[in-house]
Amino acid sequence: MKISVIIPTYNEEENIKILIPLLLEKFKEFKNYEFFIVLVDGNSKDKTVAVIKNFQKDFKLIHLIEEESKSGLGGAYIKGFNYSIDKLKADFVIEMDADLQHSPDDFPKLIMKISEGYDFIIGSRYVKGGSVPKEWAAYRKFISYFGSLFARVALRILKIKDFTSGFRATRVKGFLDQIEFTKIKSKGFAYKMDMLVRIFDMKAKIAEVPISFGLRDRGTSKMEQKNFRDSLKVVLELSMERNKSFIKFVIVGFGGLFTDLILFNLLSLKMLSATASLISGLVAMLFTFLMNNFWSFNERQKNSIKVLIPTFIIYSLSSYIPILLRSYLIHQLELTYGDTFLVSNIGFLIGVMFGIIWNFTVYSKIIWRKNK
Ligand code: GDD
Ligand code: MN
Repeated sequence: MKISVIIPTYNEEENIKILIPLLLEKFKEFKNYEFFIVLVDGNSKDKTVAVIKNFQKDFKLIHLIEEESKSGLGGAYIKGFNYSIDKLKADFVIEMDADLQHSPDDFPKLIMKISEGYDFIIGSRYVKGGSVPKEWAAYRKFISYFGSLFARVALRILKIKDFTSGFRATRVKGFLDQIEFTKIKSKGFAYKMDMLVRIFDMKAKIAEVPISFGLRDRGTSKMEQKNFRDSLKVVLELSMERNKSFIKFVIVGFGGLFTDLILFNLLSLKMLSATASLISGLVAMLFTFLMNNFWSFNERQKNSIKVLIPTFIIYSLSSYIPILLRSYLIHQLELTYGDTFLVSNIGFLIGVMFGIIWNFTVYSKIIWRKNK
């Protein structure tokens, strides 16, 4: 098995002098693997390239990609990925920083999980045993942790504790080689989140191992203000994409409610309210069904009448369940707490919330389920 350790560098001469020998030492612990180090240099102004070339004289496993100009962290990694896949035929890539904030002592933990058959392994600061520097000011710890938490919630991937870690391993076959790098949303630090979401959605077997994220002793951080805004933009875009069906489903729900209300009032002018409500309810149900089929869940839409009719019957029956439960709940609440405006409306709202969860679950998981 071939493992390519990709390390982007920008003015890191002091750091790589220390890092490379430490890594070479760690490689010796794993005789069954063939290791490469791929350094992607963003046209450093110091002697980084000269130092690397010096190492290359003694170690054939060290490769260097020289960028004409700095293309951002994501840009540099994409070059490293392509090189590792095409030239080195690597089975795994490892992303690692050059500045020793990722400790070579944590390196073996990633390799252990590769041997256990995982597809994607994250060196994590936020699992038990992991840490950020205790010297970090409180606000920095706060931003780092809550930034990660915000992304996890917005993208509904709570399982992963460290969303932005830069120390991780990815299987090439079936995962890295399935990603179209040109489609990745960011050329900066935020590419990490985009890639993570893609790999998560490919149903990768994911492990998080604890790492101690160190202090940067030498050189300066390249993390800029604009990376923060870029990251926020990427998270929001991804969140819109991932929750697209749900957002449309809610809009359709409101559309249905208005259709029901308006039609009910129009028909009531001509007929008994009870009859009017039956018709308007049915029309609204049909309206939401068609909208959900051709819009909210359009990627999985049903087209033939033969399928649409039985599906509509199931849809109507299922959608009726929360309505029945809601009236039962309101009835029970009124018996217990009295028949007041507040009590009945609280019951109504709880019922609506249950209905949203119930309907969205049935629609997305059963009626318009993804074909596996
Ligand atoms: N080639 C290239 N081009 N290398 C770059 C560039 C670039 O545009 N920008 C940064 N690097 C290199 C640096 O030389 C270093 O080896 C590594 O990429 C990470 O850069 P740092 O500037 O040290 O990043 P950081 O410490 O602020 O951020 C790290 O921690 C974050 C989580 O807190 C990174 O690991 C991030 O990926 C991570 O999200
Ligand atoms: Mn760093």
